[in-house]
Amino acid sequence: MKQPVRVAITGGAGQISYSLIFRIAAGDMLGPDQPVILQLLEIPPALDALNGVMMEVTDCAFPLVHGLFGTDKPEEAFADADICLLVGAKPRGQGMERSDLLKANADIFSVQGKAINDKAAPDARVLVVGNPANTNALIALSNAPDMAPTQFSAMMRLDHNRSLGQLALKADSHVTDIDNLFVWGNHSSTQFPDIQHALVGGTPALECVDRDWYEQSFIPIVQKRGAAIIDARGASSAASAASAAIDQMRDWIQGSQSILSMAVPADGSYGIEPGIMFSFPVQCRDGEYEIVQGFELDDFARSKINETEKELRSEREAVAHLLS
Ligand code: NAD
Ligand code: LMR
Repeated sequence: MKQPVRVAITGGAGQISYSLIFRIAAGDMLGPDQPVILQLLEIPPALDALNGVMMEVTDCAFPLVHGLFGTDKPEEAFADADICLLVGAKPRGQGMERSDLLKANADIFSVQGKAINDKAAPDARVLVVGNPANTNALIALSNAPDMAPTQFSAMMRLDHNRSLGQLALKADSHVTDIDNLFVWGNHSSTQFPDIQHALVGGTPALECVDRDWYEQSFIPIVQKRGAAIIDARGASSAASAASAAIDQMRDWIQGSQSILSMAVPADGSYGIEPGIMFSFPVQCRDGEYEIVQGFELDDFARSKINETEKELRSEREAVAHLLS
């Protein structure tokens, strides 16, 4: 029997967690033979609801759940955590941009960054889902000076999966036939979903779909998919967000052959200077990621990348007081 892995999840009573917790408990993230201890964080007004969620987890009698508790204290939730999923934050409503949430949510991530620094396992992996995810992840990592910045990432996997879904539909193909597709930049309406290097069943994607569709339809659909879901559902994406968080953390920990999209600390790759969390094409192996180098960027791609980088730098300025 493997040692249980401690998984801390914030916003445990929220919508995303209502899918995420149960799928992790079923083994979807760490595998069917990996026991877990679930450490759930909520704010005091949501503790009753969190208790209800924990009652349901107990009632599922999951074989892999070897421990479960809820708390409103970050230092308890992150104690010895191997994996921290930072979901708890306010979602946007209709007509808002994700960056409109910066004021409401930024403080959460400075407090939690400090608690992770002090209490989590030294080699913990942290994934920020709460919006605006990239800049919240930057706040968290800059409040965790004892940890390596590369232990933090922000979720771009939902954008990556949305891109796969849209391209597969248009090319009358299947998501598993698509390689070398990735999303650059911010989890926002400036993100750049890039199919210029993508292959569909081995054929260049831009030979399967026309360039006009790529520029005029595909890019805006993916950029605005979150808002379209809010309009349709009256609430932001939840099950697909949980699924993306599981995909990203599973691949980060267990590795993956494919090139994926992950927002990680910029390190100068592709000319993106340090100081922001930027989504790059990455490959993961054994809990580490590597930015895949060498993709040629034409003027169109470069201008899209510049736009999303500019937005991230201005988000950074808006929270400069929370960065150390
Ligand atoms: P929700 O409102 O249903 O749940 C959020 C939960 O977080 C609530 O239960 C709330 O009480 C809790 N919470 C608030 N502050 C907290 C704190 N300081 N500590 C612990 N818990 C706290 O929202 P949701 O639909 O689950 O979405 C959560 C976040 O994820 C939102 O910011 C949303 O915009 C974001 N999101 C991101 C992506 C992505 O791709 N990065 C996708 C979907 C949603
Ligand atoms: C999404 O992309 O679905 C989430 O970031 C929620 C939102 O506000 O769009």
